[in-house]
Amino acid sequence: MVIKKSPLQAKPDYLICTCMEVMYSQIIEAIEDGSDTFQALSDRLGVGTGCSSCVEEVMEVLREAKESKCN
Ligand code: FES
Repeated sequence: MVIKKSPLQAKPDYLICTCMEVMYSQIIEAIEDGSDTFQALSDRLGVGTGCSSCVEEVMEVLREAKESKCN
């Protein structure tokens, strides 16, 4: 079986939510697994539930993921 990775996962990984220690790759995996709203990501990974400074960045990752699905 060939597992096709999203082009988004080819990007270098980095910490997006320092409060909850959530990496970029975890957010991409969650989006690909169906958590494609900020609320769903927050419920699943806890992003944005601490200081909230990562909210804009998570929204940007969501936008990028949705754009890449459309292409
Ligand atoms: S960095 Fe995500 S809640 Fe603080």
